[in-house]
Amino acid sequence: MSFRRIGVLTSGGDAPGMNAAIRAVVRSALYSNLEVLGIFRGYEGLINEDLKVFDHRSVSSVIARGGTILRTARSPEFMTEEGQKHAVNTVKKFGLDGLVLIGGDGTYRGGIALSRKWGVPCIGVPGTIDNDLNGTDATIGSDTAVNTALDAIDKIRDTVTSMERIFVVEVMGRESGYIAMQVAVGGGAEEVLIPERKFELSKMCHEIVEGNMRGKVSWIVIVAEGAGKGEDIARQITEMTSLETRVAVLGHVQRGGSPTAKDRLLASTLGAEAVRLLMKGESGLAVGVHDGAVVSVTLEEAVAKKQQDTESYFNLLKMLS
Ligand code: F6P
Repeated sequence: MSFRRIGVLTSGGDAPGMNAAIRAVVRSALYSNLEVLGIFRGYEGLINEDLKVFDHRSVSSVIARGGTILRTARSPEFMTEEGQKHAVNTVKKFGLDGLVLIGGDGTYRGGIALSRKWGVPCIGVPGTIDNDLNGTDATIGSDTAVNTALDAIDKIRDTVTSMERIFVVEVMGRESGYIAMQVAVGGGAEEVLIPERKFELSKMCHEIVEGNMRGKVSWIVIVAEGAGKGEDIARQITEMTSLETRVAVLGHVQRGGSPTAKDRLLASTLGAEAVRLLMKGESGLAVGVHDGAVVSVTLEEAVAKKQQDTESYFNLLKMLS
């Protein structure tokens, strides 16, 4: 059987650079004389046969745009046997010889089911702001999200210093403290609370009171959403220190915007690599970069719990703050 037609989808939370990845998949596939179908709203599009043939111009001028032109969704139906059967039927009906799946943990788990259980050739491309996948030093969108959050924190710093306040800034990351730690160190914050690391709020409050007595009056505390609600943390700080606090929740602002150069290059490299691997007959792999080289691991390895070196960054933060 000759390899002639592939599908591409984005699934889960969107991330800046997903469009650049779609563009790379489409254009590198066309370059190799393959046909490409864009699948809309992630696995939902496979279940509902929501696909469209993409040509060179379908991805014109999208490289600089945030979000995903394919739309995205988290599909509860695809988690069921019935949903997967529908999806596999669509793959067969439309003659797709392979799929490129752009997304994070949930997307990759879908790819494991499709490739291992149903025999559909799949390659994963890491697209998530959380940078919580194994087998790659960076995921598409994480650099942009960190820079977006950092820009906001720099602005918050101006008012924090001027009004001599304690500010709690909640950033994204339900299960990942990546963004929080990056912006805490990069933004010169005093404290960071992340889901991967135990913290004692009373100890932190004690340090705030002590610092306050020495004349230190402004603090920025970064909280990853998975470590607690910014509002709750701020309330507890006020209760324990009797000092006034303010809160900023950066929220979905961090998921939007034009991708940075780093994310565009990563997306372009990995989108093309995914197509190359599919054409080589590979399946069940996730592409990534490690120490400047393009690499791949199994989808199972990619979704295993990521070991982050949070301690060194935390120690650095405390030393510099
Ligand atoms: O895509 C990852 C992520 O942005 C997490 O950081 C965040 O916790 C979650 O998605 C938010 O999801 P939703 O957009 O469904 O609220």
